This record gives sequence, C-alpha cells and structure tokens, in this order.
Amino acid sequence: MEYKEISQAVISRLPRYYRYLGELKDEGVERISSQELSKKMHVTASQIRQDLNHFGGFGQQGYGYNVEYLYVEIAKILGLDKEHHLILIGAGNLGQALLNYNNFERRGFIFKGIFDHNPKLYGLKIRDIEIRPMEELSSFIKKNDIDIAVLTIPKISAVTVAEKLVECNIKAIWNFAHIDLNVPENVQVENVHLSDSLMKLSYNSSRYHDIGKK
Ligand code: NAI
Repeated sequence: MEYKEISQAVISRLPRYYRYLGELKDEGVERISSQELSKKMHVTASQIRQDLNHFGGFGQQGYGYNVEYLYVEIAKILGLDKEHHLILIGAGNLGQALLNYNNFERRGFIFKGIFDHNPKLYGLKIRDIEIRPMEELSSFIKKNDIDIAVLTIPKISAVTVAEKLVECNIKAIWNFAHIDLNVPENVQVENVHLSDSLMKLSYNSSRYHDIGKK
C-alpha cells in the first residue's frame, strides 16, 4: 500500500482506532461498519471514514472494515510492526512508575536501560534492569541499538541531557520534563504533560457547569 503524508491530527487518532480494533479482534469480530465503530468509539462515522481513507480504500460499501487487516495496517503505520528499544533517564517517582508498567512491552516498547546521576541508585534494579551512571549512556546506546529515550528528569537538566542524546544519535525522545527541547529537525519529540490534560479537564468541566447555569 502507498502511504501519503498524513496529518498529525489523523495520526493522533490512530492509537485509539488501533486499541478498539485490537479489542474487536480479541472478541473474534471479523468485520465492522463505520457506523458500528462510530457508536463504539463516540466518533462520527464520517470522521472514521475520512481518517481511514488515508490508508487506502479498504472499507467496502456494504461490507465495512476487515478488523484484522485494518489492525495490522494501522500497526504498520504506527511503527508497531517492529520492536523499539528504550532507555529511561531519571529513575525517580515518575520514571519508576513508567518502568513498572508492563503493557509497553506488549506493544513492542522494550526498556533496555535505566540511567540516573544519583550514585546511590547505581546498581539497583527495576524489573531486572540495572540503574547505570550517565557516563555509560553513550556506549550503552551504541551497543544496544536504542531508538527511543524517555526523559523523566527535572526540567533544569532536560535540555542538556537531550543535547547529549542527540550527540548519541537518538532520533526519538519521549519527554516528560516540563520544558520544550531544542533538537534538530530529524529528532522527534513527543511531550507528555499530565497537568495539561488535567487543565483541559478543568476547562471542560467549568465550561459545562457554566453553560448548565445559563
Ligand atoms: P524525582 O525527583 O522522583 O526523580 C527525578 C530523578 O531524575 C531522580 O532520580 C534524579 O536523581 C534524576 N536526575 C535529575 N537530574 C538528572 C540528570 N541530569 N541526569 C540523570 N538523572 C537525573 O522526580 P519525579 O517526580 O519522578 O519527576 C521527574 C520529572 O518529571 C520532574 O521534572 C517532574 O516535573 C516531571 N513530571 C512530569 C509529569 C508529566 O506529566 N509530564 C508528571 C510528573 C512529573
């Protein structure tokens, strides 16, 4: 299948399609119409059709979508058809919580190494992975074919550490530090800020109640 350039808005909806299709697949569902998927996902059927049309015309009138096929194709688009090797930098509260969540592995995201600058943590293990000093970062990345770095360190050191990661040829950073990273164009950064999500919830909740009062 030939892939066109796909907008980030569409890409951001793909993981959700992927999750729902995975559930349908597990339930033994072989095909589904955009209307049925729409009801399940609370997204309009036309949005679903538009989104999925980017990946070829495999939805057929009167047939719907082949669940298995669509699931596999979306996995390929999301790069889930191959294993990703991750390192995490910052083995504190957040870092440990992420490392202890074993569902990432099921999706092919494998933590290979953990780094921290606190000597008290060196040699300790989280789910069998040893915490290493930052001095070993560069050689570890080279040896272990690492493609994603997870940053769970305070924002004051995040920029410097990101620069180091770029020097080590890392091309993808999952950034939890509350700061924008200045990286070259060929390095992808995905910022995750739980507090942004909470503020959005706060906005939507306040707006809903304000409208309700009118
Ligand atoms: P923490 O203090 O428990 O852990 C931070 C760890 O990073 C410590 O083990 C520390 O030794 C290590 N560290 C600090 N500077 C380092 C450096 N230059 N190189 C290597 N290791 C370094 O903090 P916590 O609660 O885990 O939070 C970590 C960061 O994540 C904070 O900046 C916090 O603001 C942010 N955070 C972001 C969230 C989000 O949704 N994006 C949610 C929660 C926290």
